[in-house]
Amino acid sequence: DFKTTMANAEFPSIFLNASGVNCMTVTEMDEMINAACTGGVVTKSATPQQREGNPQPRYYQLEHGSINSMGLPNEGFPYYLDYVTKEHAKPTILSVAGLKMSDNIELLHKIQASDYTGLTELNLSCPNVIGKPQVAYDFEETDALLAEIFSFYTKPLGVKLPPYFDLVHFDQMATILNKYPLTHINTVNSVGNGLWIDIDTEKVVIKPKQGFGGLGGTMILPTALANVRAFRQRLNPSIKIIGTGGVTSGADVFMHLLCGADMVSVGTALLHEGVGIFQRLTDELTTIMAEKGYTSIEDFRGKVQDF
Ligand code: DHB
Repeated sequence: DFKTTMANAEFPSIFLNASGVNCMTVTEMDEMINAACTGGVVTKSATPQQREGNPQPRYYQLEHGSINSMGLPNEGFPYYLDYVTKEHAKPTILSVAGLKMSDNIELLHKIQASDYTGLTELNLSCPNVIGKPQVAYDFEETDALLAEIFSFYTKPLGVKLPPYFDLVHFDQMATILNKYPLTHINTVNSVGNGLWIDIDTEKVVIKPKQGFGGLGGTMILPTALANVRAFRQRLNPSIKIIGTGGVTSGADVFMHLLCGADMVSVGTALLHEGVGIFQRLTDELTTIMAEKGYTSIEDFRGKVQDF
């Protein structure tokens, strides 16, 4: 069985939605919780106020993944805090994304003061708000933000990270994260600012940001695996890892787990296939494990071998 715990939460399975997919409304979040083989639900990243997001079209399916520039459409922080504070059959992760530093502090003060006792994930990697850089690509700002947060915040907290592409950046970010009592990191957010073009119209395929948008799906699997592996090699064992990026099959899940992921989340493929994907991934992973003679994820988690 694929039960797993993070902080005070007991997840019945390792599988989650990637934030942004199937988690905007109560109906969608309930569907995630009620679906077979899910561990729980991560909310759409909440901003202090409700947002419409960027103009449409803002999501486009590519041959090997997806490109999006949603622009943080969401129902607003009170809506998601209300949802996660209620009793549910599976755990929740409340994702929050301030549009500026003071928003992040304010949101976490509100969670700290609320009745919610579950996990929160601070999104340091939203790439689609026009004019706003990703916090987690600014190492000093990330350190300063976490220092301020942990001066008052005592509930379970993790961070959502963008992909890094330089081994020294893994060293630098891991050194910062290891200073704080984080429950987990979630790696990776979409690969920022890709571009796709329809050759018939010679136009970009999404409207916001002149077509630039975050990439997801199969094409980002190697980047996701590298980030899970690199952080597992560098982070304190107490900091768990949610592996996100490029999962469409049980084999992809198996690779994330070999890299050291504690849980695995699914974005693009969940959007395309629906919540039935979690039963399929469970069946496919179970088959791979049986073929290899593994009886538990602990038999192989983090044990990817060098060539
Ligand atoms: C959006 C995209 C992200 O990758 C993210 O982390 C948060 C929000 C968006 O465009 O809505």
